[in-house]
Amino acid sequence: MLKLVDLNKQYSLSNLIIKKNISKVLANQNFIMGKEVNILEKKLKSITKSKYCLTVSSGTDALLISLMAINLKPGDEVIVPSFTYVSPVEAIVRLGALPVFVDICNENGNIDTSLIEKEITKKTKAIIFVNLFGSICNITKLKKIKNKNKKIFFIEDAAQSFGAKFKNYNSCNTLDISCTSFFPTKNLGCYGDGGAIFTNLKHIYNSSKMIREHGQKIKYHHDIVGIGGRLDTIQASILLAKLKSFKSEIILRKSNFKYYNQLIDKQNLSLKINFKIGKIKFPAEGSPNYASYNIFVRPEVRKKLITFLKKNKIASTIYYPKIIPDHKPYKKYLKTKQKLRNSEFVSKRILSLPFGPYIKQKEISYVVNILGKFFRKISH
Ligand SMILES: Cc1ncc(COP(=O)(O)O)c(C=O)c1O
Repeated sequence: MLKLVDLNKQYSLSNLIIKKNISKVLANQNFIMGKEVNILEKKLKSITKSKYCLTVSSGTDALLISLMAINLKPGDEVIVPSFTYVSPVEAIVRLGALPVFVDICNENGNIDTSLIEKEITKKTKAIIFVNLFGSICNITKLKKIKNKNKKIFFIEDAAQSFGAKFKNYNSCNTLDISCTSFFPTKNLGCYGDGGAIFTNLKHIYNSSKMIREHGQKIKYHHDIVGIGGRLDTIQASILLAKLKSFKSEIILRKSNFKYYNQLIDKQNLSLKINFKIGKIKFPAEGSPNYASYNIFVRPEVRKKLITFLKKNKIASTIYYPKIIPDHKPYKKYLKTKQKLRNSEFVSKRILSLPFGPYIKQKEISYVVNILGKFFRKISH
């Protein structure tokens, strides 16, 4: 089976250094907040040029800690895209605050910045913008909104965009706070759960640091409510090993992404054929990190295509099959008659194909040939 994300090749190339790094932690027995955590935070700061970095237990906890650090209270509102992974909405609701859904734009699947201001009220405490599939939101437009609404915290969900850029902005150093994930299949992934928070605001860094450690500055003196949100030293040591190939892997991703596009165009399976199949576009001013390769297919054929791919030993998945307000716990936050057209459109059509830095050209070519076979078959 051609996997959606195959981590074996990366492991076979880096296993010596990964094993060496893990062995060092085992020898030192510093499993919690060992020196590797500190070294990693310094490296992540220098990559993003962010003033502060705190590694944490997951991307979801990075969002939760950030919202706790801005003192999000029950009844406060947070603007979020309606098409995203669930974590940002989950974190808002866990703190008793209210998610306010905004549709995505049809350019790149990120929050439609032209719709944000209409949703700002006196209760708006934060805006979480999600950089889906490694493509950063339009930071210039978001900065303009920020300048008019200085008290609102702009939080970047960079779980999928670490290593990407928008103009001169590095992902994880864009507006007030940024959160990323080191989930194993992310561009920079560990071998378990992990994440990080970035900010240039000292007070946010200080409170996030306390929240990460059960609300304490001094051991067993809990001044605020926190969580157990630290990154394991073993995971930090794995990330340090993987950072060595991170930049070159983005270059490989880019060339594999382009190769997919070329072959899809060659097979004449492009967007112009009534959304039969189409590539997600990236904004011209952005430089994505090529986190995944997605196509659009008509809703009535998507299920058949997934079965056909599976029969031909190709894995695929849907990121994401439902918009957030269609999930049971989040339905009640949708305003009556609110239309989320682009979110609905994308969730019904999107399909993710096998991808990664080490996927072989012949594997990409096999996937595209099977796609061609499928679409020729259904058009007869
Ligand atoms: C957009 C987005 N936000 C948040 C998360 C949460 O990260 P984690 O799985 O590390 O909790 C993910 C992870 O898949 C994500 O894709």
